Amino acid sequence: MFSKAALLALSYAAIIVTTVFGQQVGTNTAETHPSLPWTKCTRSGGCTTQSGKVTLDANWRWLHSTEDPNTNCYTGNTWNATLCPDPTTCAANCALDGADYAGTYGITISGNALTLKFVTNSQQKNVGSRVYLMASDTEYEMFKLLNQELAFDVDVSNLPCGLNGALYFSQMDADGGMSRFPTNKAGAKYGTGYCDSQCPRDIKFINGQANSAGWSPSSSDPNAGTGQYGSCCNEMDVWEANNRAAAFTAHPCTVTQQTICEGDSACGSTPTNRYASVCDPDGCDFNSFRMGNKLFYGAGLTVDTTKKFTVVTQFITDDGTDTGTLSEIRRFYVQDGKVIQNSRVNVPGMSSSLDSITTDFCTQQKSVFGDTNSFQDKGGLAGISKGMADGMVLVLSVWDDHAANMLWLDGDYPTDADPSAPGVARGTCGTTSGTPAYVETSAANAFVVFSNIRFGELDSTYIPIPIPTGNPVPTNTPPATIPTKYGQW
Ligand SMILES: *[C@@H]1O[C@H](CO)[C@@H](O)[C@H](O)[C@H]1NC(C)=O
Repeated sequence: MFSKAALLALSYAAIIVTTVFGQQVGTNTAETHPSLPWTKCTRSGGCTTQSGKVTLDANWRWLHSTEDPNTNCYTGNTWNATLCPDPTTCAANCALDGADYAGTYGITISGNALTLKFVTNSQQKNVGSRVYLMASDTEYEMFKLLNQELAFDVDVSNLPCGLNGALYFSQMDADGGMSRFPTNKAGAKYGTGYCDSQCPRDIKFINGQANSAGWSPSSSDPNAGTGQYGSCCNEMDVWEANNRAAAFTAHPCTVTQQTICEGDSACGSTPTNRYASVCDPDGCDFNSFRMGNKLFYGAGLTVDTTKKFTVVTQFITDDGTDTGTLSEIRRFYVQDGKVIQNSRVNVPGMSSSLDSITTDFCTQQKSVFGDTNSFQDKGGLAGISKGMADGMVLVLSVWDDHAANMLWLDGDYPTDADPSAPGVARGTCGTTSGTPAYVETSAANAFVVFSNIRFGELDSTYIPIPIPTGNPVPTNTPPATIPTKYGQW
């Protein structure tokens, strides 16, 4: 994520004060996590279905007085000062409530396919959402990525410039922080404990305390604001994309669990102290367009974004074991029965053999693009590897960007830089595209579909049938030319 401070667009909180709906739902909504089955795979044993569920992040939820559900603790983008005079009292006075996933938030699941709708108008307008995969109703599923691979299908055809349908991992606590912070009574069940490499300060509860102190309502987002505290942790962006651009990005931190930060400097919140937090906010990213292949990803291109495709990501370790250190993040795609190798780097000054995230790739990229190498400073691949060893939470979201209009993903960024300079052009979206005001009206019906999530040993997930014993086991890298049909090798 580049600037998730901007992503929040909770509007449920306001619902209760509107007369009709508010009085009808004066009591708490039961929290029923929608089921999202996924599969775990091994090379020898094939794949078995896991009965996962998802939960909505706490920030999107209705937050009200424990004594009187008709009194909001948070309305629009401000806290009730009586209920929330300070973070501790606020945490004691305020309750998160259950969610109407489909009706209020546009989150629906059919079979193994999760659809996240961008704007949902019920009694109020909701923009975007963020959900986590759960192992049970009270714990997040913890993924240990080292020496494993992840595959999923995605449909970005209805995600235009300025939107981001994201699938990524954050090193959150499995219980949402309940055991480390006993004043957090809601836990993973209610989607608490979020953190990422931006050390976001728009999070309403961090470490069992409200983030209400020094809260500053956003000037552009009617539902968001920023508090004194942020929540930092390792983040592996497997997929951040719309139908124009896509990136995968590793963001290491020097901390190996969710960690609170306080203030602009420690949270790296302003341009002058962007690199002062414990995390790397830029990350080392692979965006095919930015890396010089402008005909790889998009409508009608090699990876054709007008229809569904499979994204496969491999987390290779230096010694080829689950206990090794992350040395490479490989990517390929499967579409129309064909495996598509990731694009190769085509940037003057960089090696053209590069097609994955490695230390060499990151070092060359930062140098040639003239970017600050915060990635290296915060530990590089070995740094994020520690987070991966402990396990990370799978996050799925759709969002728009109040800070930079998503141009860091899909346009020329920084917008005032020469677009022909290396690293500036990231996609075909215009520099005036992607404003929340525009996309929330013009693309209100946009959505992303993530389906068929598979996780397991290298080369186990994207082949839908088990490999019969006696056949050669494919190497980590698929053969250069793969004319065979999906499922026939
Ligand atoms: C804030 O909370 C107090 C205490 O519950 C309540 O009396 C008051 O009406 C609330 N204010 C708003 C604007 O909801």
